[in-house]
Amino acid sequence: MSSTIQNNTSLLEFGKKHVTAGLARSVDGVMTKGAGSYVEFGDGKVFLDFTTGIGVTGLGHCHPKVSGAAAKQCMELVHGQCSIAFTEPYLQLIERLLPMMPDPSLDSFFFWNSGSEAIEAAMKMARLFTGKQNIIAMQGAYHGRTFGAMAVTKSKTIYSEGFHPLMPGVFSIPYPYWHQLSLPPTTEQSEITAQCLNQLHLVLSQQTAPRDTAAILIEPLLGEGGYVPAPAEFLKGVREICDKEGILLIIDEVQSGFARTGKNFSIEHAGVRPDIMTIAKGLANGFPLSGVVSRKELTDKLKPGSMGGTYAGNAVACAAAVAVADVLKEEKILENVNARSKELFAGLNELRSKPSVSPVILDVRGQGLMVAVEFASPTGTSPYDSFVKPSAPARLSSRIAKRCQEKGLLILTTSVYEVIRFIPPLNITQEDLNKGIKIFSEAVEEVVREG
Ligand SMILES: Cc1ncc(COP(=O)(O)O)c(C=O)c1O
Repeated sequence: MSSTIQNNTSLLEFGKKHVTAGLARSVDGVMTKGAGSYVEFGDGKVFLDFTTGIGVTGLGHCHPKVSGAAAKQCMELVHGQCSIAFTEPYLQLIERLLPMMPDPSLDSFFFWNSGSEAIEAAMKMARLFTGKQNIIAMQGAYHGRTFGAMAVTKSKTIYSEGFHPLMPGVFSIPYPYWHQLSLPPTTEQSEITAQCLNQLHLVLSQQTAPRDTAAILIEPLLGEGGYVPAPAEFLKGVREICDKEGILLIIDEVQSGFARTGKNFSIEHAGVRPDIMTIAKGLANGFPLSGVVSRKELTDKLKPGSMGGTYAGNAVACAAAVAVADVLKEEKILENVNARSKELFAGLNELRSKPSVSPVILDVRGQGLMVAVEFASPTGTSPYDSFVKPSAPARLSSRIAKRCQEKGLLILTTSVYEVIRFIPPLNITQEDLNKGIKIFSEAVEEVVREG
């Protein structure tokens, strides 16, 4: 694409001047091309991409079948509008997704554009289906930046700071993550589960009675809050409470869905049935598309027109998502995720076992190719955080991410803790994965040595 702004440097300066300061940016550059596991910048630099656009381009950049399907759809019908008529790709997508659902009861679909919008729709539906208002969310959760989604987002105050008041009727309990309970990282999952389920019982008897509680909203694998899988027993316990009290369970698979965790959806690891499930990101490999899935028996209560949106379920995005579903099957993506996941864990655990870095690595965790390494901090987020290690170097995660960048690997931090997250392409080759692990390991050793 040509620009009247002549070179890469002036394009960058133009962006800095005219793009809102409200956006954060981890690379000071202009991304121009993406192919498979690599991205290129305007200055010619090429990076191995372990960010996948924050868990979106799971099939790699510009997968030929996905981009090809979108290009073909562009020449047939770009926009039909979901309140005017069905489009073929919209219906084909439902056909592809039905057999992938974590429970056969999930048979009614609504597509929107972003994950935040899917969360908004899920909460509207929960209120309408139950005739109740309150939502219980998790301390540490991230669900988006629109007003409803912001109210249930509890991973960092930056998302809501200065924007209050938020949507009322939101209560929270700690996510089953040792930090949220001020417990050591070695705590048994059963102990964490018991503590969090106890908090849920307490909230239901002290803050929001079951008769006022429409839904409990959970990421089965906490994303922006630290890449922490919820113990299966915790999710099962929440399901039991929901069944007993007539509360709906909303499972947010926006980041963890579409083979990312080694199953189509992370909730399958626990074998728990969602009443409502939100999907986005990996669904369309970069085209803006999200979805809310529930049971027809519930969604039949919605009045026509109560759901919708000008671009909701856009035909081009749906055509791309149909191709994604086909590629997931044809290219045996789940098999690759599980094979590469074992190698990733092995590589990170090998790093962790090195005496030079082991004192500052607190945790290696995750599912599939949604994996995190957590480091110690000299300050923590509070003076009561028992994992503070005064001897640990400061700001390890951001310094390591920066060092990786200098060595040609794009990788992200996450949460208010010192966490680096791995979200490489789902179809990454063994060679590229090893290359990324090597760069990361070198960066960790160097930064820890520098202190
Ligand atoms: C679990 C989860 N839910 C919801 C969202 C919001 O999605 P979006 O940024 O598309 O609005 C995100 C985004 O990172 C997410 O990770």
